Amino acid sequence: MNRTRTNDRFARARNGSAASGRGGGRFGSSAASRSGGPSRSGGYGRRPAAIQGEFALPKTITPALPAVEGFADLDMPGELLAALGSQGVTVPFPIQAATLPNSLVGRDVLGRGRTGSGKTLAFGLALLARTAGQRADARQPLGLILVPTRELAQQVTDALAPYARSVKLRLATVVGGMSIGRQAGALRGGAEVVVATPGRLKDLIDRGDCRLNQVSITVLDEADQMADMGFMPQVTALLDQVRPEGQRMLFSATLDRNVDLLVRRYLSDPVVHSVDPSAGAVTTMEHHVLHVHGADKHTATTEIAARDGRVIMFLDTKHAVDRLTEHLLNSGVRAAALHGGKSQPQRTRTLAQFKTGHVNVLVATNVAARGIHVDNLDLVVNVDPPTDHKDYLHRGGRTARAGESGSVVTLVTPNQRRDMTRLMAAAGIVPQTTQVRVGEEALRRITGAQAPSGIPVVITVPVAERPKKRSAASRGRRRPASAARRAPARQSTVGAPA
Ligand SMILES: Nc1ncnc2c1ncn2[C@@H]1O[C@H](COP(=O)(O)OP(=O)(O)OP(=O)(O)O)[C@@H](O)[C@H]1O
Ligand SMILES: [Mg+2]
Repeated sequence: MNRTRTNDRFARARNGSAASGRGGGRFGSSAASRSGGPSRSGGYGRRPAAIQGEFALPKTITPALPAVEGFADLDMPGELLAALGSQGVTVPFPIQAATLPNSLVGRDVLGRGRTGSGKTLAFGLALLARTAGQRADARQPLGLILVPTRELAQQVTDALAPYARSVKLRLATVVGGMSIGRQAGALRGGAEVVVATPGRLKDLIDRGDCRLNQVSITVLDEADQMADMGFMPQVTALLDQVRPEGQRMLFSATLDRNVDLLVRRYLSDPVVHSVDPSAGAVTTMEHHVLHVHGADKHTATTEIAARDGRVIMFLDTKHAVDRLTEHLLNSGVRAAALHGGKSQPQRTRTLAQFKTGHVNVLVATNVAARGIHVDNLDLVVNVDPPTDHKDYLHRGGRTARAGESGSVVTLVTPNQRRDMTRLMAAAGIVPQTTQVRVGEEALRRITGAQAPSGIPVVITVPVAERPKKRSAASRGRRRPASAARRAPARQSTVGAPA
């Protein structure tokens, strides 16, 4: 059940300085090939286990304003209310109803809400409403949203774009792997709100293309993930550059001790909205542990992938993802791979093709585990069991979102059973455990598994996205600087591939 907690005393110096496996079958990933920590490619395999334990609850001096019943009860520009209506968003979700009255008056917020519970609009509407009517100078955004992955940055931009448009605010997406020149151009043209991954934003600041000293609202989405990925020094360095008296909001489905430093140093008298982080709290989500023999795992994975309907399959490493994807394509399953080793245009295209149904199976590392929203996705499969309960929660949270139902299936070989039992206990979940054999009814019933066609498939790239063949005359010819300067600073798509 949702609950808003307030506490009585908290004092903090805002101007403080910055602080500084398992295998399993043919598709299992070997420990040696796992990678952890942040990478410039924005992708990662296994990361170091998160620091376990609850975050230290900050003290709230000023009591929180009560939750509202409807969006109309909130002090938001009429244009935003109209945009909500035209997007079909009529009733605030609990985290929105509880935090928006407070964030709209400028309070700092620490928000922990389940996967798929609407955190993006919870922070997004507050940021846009409070920025509306202002105009950013060149290179000096007024609002900043930091996220851990490029895909999430693009998704947050897309989710907020109709609302930003309604109040004439310009969004810019700033992520690695895409043209830094175009992103610099967008900032030069003036963008009120920047959605960024920390590394690329730092690069733009270092180049003199962005300054954060006018940022008066800062959001950290998936704050704990940025800490887990080792981005903390970059994040604190960025937070030290925004306006010291500005508003800060931290949101995630899981907030643990990793965010203590951020909370202590950067949140002042915050309103805390914290719901049970357990995946079991998403009542529309079913949890299945399927005990499989190592020898059966390969075929079981293939048959699940061949189901009617879409599925995300998580594996530990880029290599294992590529191997499984290739095998699925050869077996007649429309699959595509998403991991940090792919180019950003490939990553963006793959996710788009999965969202539109052009491919049925997204085979991914944890890079797809956080925040990503795909409509009508009713199955997530952990081909490699996750490392810890936070990974489990976020991977599984790609299904059963916004009140929809869905299942999370984890394939567990005999040598993985003990770790899985421990992980489920830590997550507070009692899964349905079933011993399955290939060809048996149980596997079909739980996952929709069926034999694939066996006819190899090739996933086509839409014509508009194929790299253009350059004529001999154009090869080696560089675009004049004046043309580059004239490049349009397009709202909301800056950084996205054509
Ligand atoms: N008030 C609302 N009414 C209807 N749909 C909503 C509402 N708020 C958000 N949604 C929809 O719910 C879905 C999930 O929202 P969102 O991606 O913000 O979840 P989240 O809490 O950030 O999840 P995660 O922890 O996985 O990042 C989105 O499709 C969003 O459009
Ligand atoms: Mg989210």
